[in-house]
Amino acid sequence: MKILAFETSCDDTAVALVENGHNILANITASQTEIHQKYGGVVPEIAARNHINIIIQLIDEAIKKSNYHLKDIDAFAATAFHGLSGSLLIGMMTAKTLSYIYSKPFIGINHIEAHIYANFIENKNLPIPHICLTVSGGHTILVVFKGHNNYQVIGQTVDDAAGEAFDKLSQYLQLGYPGGPIIDKLAKNGNPEKYKLPRPMIKKNNFLFSFSGLKTATLNLIKNLKHNNENYKIEDIAASFQKAVVDTLVTKTIKAAKKYNIKTITLSGGVAANSMLREEFQKECIKNNINFFYPQIKYCTDNAVMVGTLAYYKLKNGYTSKLDTNVIANTLL
Ligand code: KG4
Ligand code: ZN
Repeated sequence: MKILAFETSCDDTAVALVENGHNILANITASQTEIHQKYGGVVPEIAARNHINIIIQLIDEAIKKSNYHLKDIDAFAATAFHGLSGSLLIGMMTAKTLSYIYSKPFIGINHIEAHIYANFIENKNLPIPHICLTVSGGHTILVVFKGHNNYQVIGQTVDDAAGEAFDKLSQYLQLGYPGGPIIDKLAKNGNPEKYKLPRPMIKKNNFLFSFSGLKTATLNLIKNLKHNNENYKIEDIAASFQKAVVDTLVTKTIKAAKKYNIKTITLSGGVAANSMLREEFQKECIKNNINFFYPQIKYCTDNAVMVGTLAYYKLKNGYTSKLDTNVIANTLL
């Protein structure tokens, strides 16, 4: 079963050809980061137009690399739910058009669900049930994965997503976009204990997250340091901020695993690439006798392989989408 998968929910144009959910025949991502960097964030109209410019070229490259022909493809899948509407439309309409021409199924994919499935790409035997924390630029969501197509959302952010907080801090400090990898790198040379920043909602007896207050507290800290002419290292601020995010995410996720008596935690989404987050989870999971899995960095950030893997499981369970499926910009699972 060969699935040609598309992911264009934001500013990356990604095409992958995935066989039986796990065998990656082609995986290509064209990044628009340089284009959007000068605006300090993604400009939706520009992102959508750039998907159009490159998507056909990426299909040609993927197909050539795999040594197959489009007529050999068994199904076409694309992210259709959650993301920038204009961007989603390009990938989804491309997949639907190919599905129509070749009379093969089309599968519309939920972006958050695809991130969750990034953990299955290289691990067919991922334990079920497990708890998955998905952290990216658009979402922070905690899910009990009970089985394929059987999830329980137990927590999410009440304001900013974790990645959004990284991006906004970086933008404020004029360090560049996306902020996560930049803060991550700076934090390696900083002292995470230097500044005491809030751990939002860490003590609350629920699985909700909030990052807006932490972002404001960090910006106020910088303003005060400047106002008082105090010497400070940007690395210490990056490390202290990152530690506050990591502590909150790790503590609440471990608490959830204990409450639901689940022995496996998985991590997904762009922020799952964060080095301190991966290390702290590893440490705490060992301490608490919990299995811990996370995808390779290239499968944490937006990619089309995760779309192809999820589409395979959907198709296997008899699920396809109609050709009049429309995009939905804002939805959970
Ligand atoms: O999953 P993703 O590629 O796109 C969305 O679905 O949003 O995630 C992008 C987010 C951005 O906010 C970016 O700053 C963050 O992931 N990110 C990181 C790291 N790499 C990417 N955040 C923290 N540390 C990183 N190393
Ligand atoms: Zn994403």
